[in-house]
Amino acid sequence: MPTNVKPAVTSNIQKLIHLLLNSPSFEDSCEMIRTAEISERDVEPYRHFHASSYGRNLVFTCEKFEIILMCWREGQESAIHDHSQSDCILRCISGRFEELVYTLEPSNKLRHVQSRIIEAGDISYINNDLGLHKIRNSVHGVSLALHFYFPGISQFQVFDEAEENDPKVVHSTFTSRFGRL
Ligand SMILES: [Fe+2]
Repeated sequence: MPTNVKPAVTSNIQKLIHLLLNSPSFEDSCEMIRTAEISERDVEPYRHFHASSYGRNLVFTCEKFEIILMCWREGQESAIHDHSQSDCILRCISGRFEELVYTLEPSNKLRHVQSRIIEAGDISYINNDLGLHKIRNSVHGVSLALHFYFPGISQFQVFDEAEENDPKVVHSTFTSRFGRL
């Protein structure tokens, strides 16, 4: 495909974007993301992996929100991270994830407070008031998830369990943008 041509946004993704652009509230947006018909085929134009980390593929961005397809190979996991000032909704498209949730105590010590499994069709929601998290692909194979950030997230902090007082700022980078590597 010539690099100056955007792939067509699949109709189900386009439908969801249209709904979200016109959504009256964040709660409504969550429900739209939970109930949208989205299959592996719908995210195929954005399905790119990365050798050393999970693939971060920008699907759509506007002032109100951003959609990123995260593509995980077997054994890949994120660092423990925050979500800046954004609300993050994750919808598992295929495979399965384990989400480990942490809180940051006043002493800056990380406390693991919850683990949950997110399977295809499930959604999960987090922001800084709820805590920090780490996502891990928990199947023998690949897992795909759409992440919706309200608003888009340009940087976030990562935390090392071994160095609790020294979070690092990471700038958002992409494996592909709008289907282009
Ligand atoms: Fe996250």
